[in-house]
Amino acid sequence: RQPLTLPRLKALKAKGEKIAMLTAYDYPSARLAEEAEVDILLVGDSLGNVVLGYDTTVPVKLEDMIYHTRAVVRGAPGTMVVTDMPFGTYRLGPEATLRNAVRLMQEGGSHGVKLEGGADIADEVKRLTSAGIPVLGHLGLTPQSVLQIGGYKVQGKDRAEADRLIADARALEEAGAFGIVLELVTEQVAAAVTRAVGIPTIGIGAGRGCDGQVLVFHDILRYGSGIRDKRFVKTYADVGETIRAAISEYVGDVRGARFPEEKNGFALDDQAAKEFID
Ligand code: KIV
Ligand code: NA
Repeated sequence: RQPLTLPRLKALKAKGEKIAMLTAYDYPSARLAEEAEVDILLVGDSLGNVVLGYDTTVPVKLEDMIYHTRAVVRGAPGTMVVTDMPFGTYRLGPEATLRNAVRLMQEGGSHGVKLEGGADIADEVKRLTSAGIPVLGHLGLTPQSVLQIGGYKVQGKDRAEADRLIADARALEEAGAFGIVLELVTEQVAAAVTRAVGIPTIGIGAGRGCDGQVLVFHDILRYGSGIRDKRFVKTYADVGETIRAAISEYVGDVRGARFPEEKNGFALDDQAAKEFID
């Protein structure tokens, strides 16, 4: 399997075929996602929330994203991998932003980067795309600005917000972005943005009209405590409960001396022990 290319991605929109994107942060999850034929893996800075235990994405560093991208790329060598540029690593002017994006590509092994913002970062997006870096935009609710926005609120609720989102989407397309994530945008406005641009939109909490969808790995699997049930998430498995029950059984087995059993050990006279010692 070969990673998706940008021309093939654009063709999916033209043909009306939906794009399935999922986040991943490590080797085993990336491997499983590739086996399940996910189109694009996003090493999201949601890493901060679901893997590192921060309240927001603001504390996530470039080094964190590089480290986790490397693991994802090792797990999914045949899948397109896009990495979030974390808070504070862009909006620094085109040259500094380019240097940071290059690190994600060269040290992380990513196939592209994602930045939150629209017309206000068009010059930086243009610098990246003109250097050959595939860029995915991100509009609507932009979690890196949550401290300014004052919470995780739905965007695109009136005509003015709709017009601004469409203008931002066109600015990103003009700057060479290959797609745009639309997060927590009303269904009608997300559909209007999708019609307004030739590049694919990938929605999360943005209704049925987008060209693709993205969700967070830990959310669809209920993997990890503290993840609130969100209306825009569909839960496909309760892996958290499976893991908790399994660990609890292991702890009980150790305390009750039911594990290890004779077969889990090595007797002096058996062949396995000899091989192990040799
Ligand atoms: O960080 C992330 O997981 C994201 C997606 C939710 C789009 O940006
Ligand atoms: Na993100």
